[in-house]
Amino acid sequence: MSTTKKIVVTSGDGIGPDVSEQAVQVMQAVALRFDLQLELSEHPVGGIAYDLTGTPLPDETLDACKAADAILLGAVGGPKWEPLDFSVRPERGLLKLRSELQLYANLRPAVIYGDLVDASTLKREVVEGTNIMVIRELTGGIYFGQPRGVTTENGERTGRNTLVYSESEIQRIAKVGFETAQKRSNRLTSVDKANVLETTELWRNVVVELSRDYPDVELNHMYVDNAAMQLIRDPKQFDTVVTTNLFGDILSDAAAMLTGSIGMLPSASVGGDIGLYEPVHGSAPDIAGQDKANPLATILSVGMMFRYSFDLTEADELIQKAVVQTIETHRTGDIMSEGKTLVGCQQMGDLVLKALESL
Ligand code: IPM
Ligand code: MG
Repeated sequence: MSTTKKIVVTSGDGIGPDVSEQAVQVMQAVALRFDLQLELSEHPVGGIAYDLTGTPLPDETLDACKAADAILLGAVGGPKWEPLDFSVRPERGLLKLRSELQLYANLRPAVIYGDLVDASTLKREVVEGTNIMVIRELTGGIYFGQPRGVTTENGERTGRNTLVYSESEIQRIAKVGFETAQKRSNRLTSVDKANVLETTELWRNVVVELSRDYPDVELNHMYVDNAAMQLIRDPKQFDTVVTTNLFGDILSDAAAMLTGSIGMLPSASVGGDIGLYEPVHGSAPDIAGQDKANPLATILSVGMMFRYSFDLTEADELIQKAVVQTIETHRTGDIMSEGKTLVGCQQMGDLVLKALESL
């Protein structure tokens, strides 16, 4: 008997619908192989949701997500919605979704697939063999801290955001860091700014305390400025990285570029009952609807869904293999290099499907 999984697809804005469409095709093909029945439904989030309902995360979407087994998200945001009040910007929809579902752990693997090393802006010898798991805290820190906002003080506008972490918030994300490192090569780097920010000094202390439960994991600490430099200088020194919400946002974009293109980086947001899977890239409004986007980050995010939500590691491996096979010969514009055939978003999706059939 096959199991049924309810999947909510929130394609969102910009290239979100382009890449989601391809990823859904792959999801369906792989589900069939592993005897999973999928019940898919599409719900608006982000700017499109604002246009339809006046809010970037309508209750109807949130309720559907809460009732789902997993969520696939495309991308949110775009210049069209930038003039809006902060409280209804597309990004607020995504942040609220992460927070409501308590998805405190964001896994962002930066891996160089196949011969994509050609597409990186860095030298082959620097990036070849890079395989980093960035674990970003996702529901706390300066993204959510109170007080926040812009007020008038002493006759001038004053902006304020607050970096807050409680001990338990640090512990639970650090635990994900240690356990992830144990499944990889037992090396964990915790990134903070403990020399300047008290909150991250607490972060460091809590990580050190917890490390006593993981004597097999080799732990080191790095200030975020140094980590940014080291990522570009010698990325292979990193295995598992655990860090705060804001530092993780920044470092994961940097890590993405090691892999050739941000169009290759998938992510999984976990910690609550329901996982959310989304590409790390944004909505790229300049190429939206033009069949130019790279769907691979979203396709690889589907792989992460099978792995983390449905415990089907094999399905994830299969998707990764199909992606590697496809990019041997075909590339979207962002990862194009000499001797390869340039394809659009749709054709890239179809080629991955074809590769899956052959595996
Ligand atoms: C990301 C994005 C989001 C973030 C934006 C769209 C709110 O940059 O997922 O990395 O800052 O978390
Ligand atoms: Mg980001």
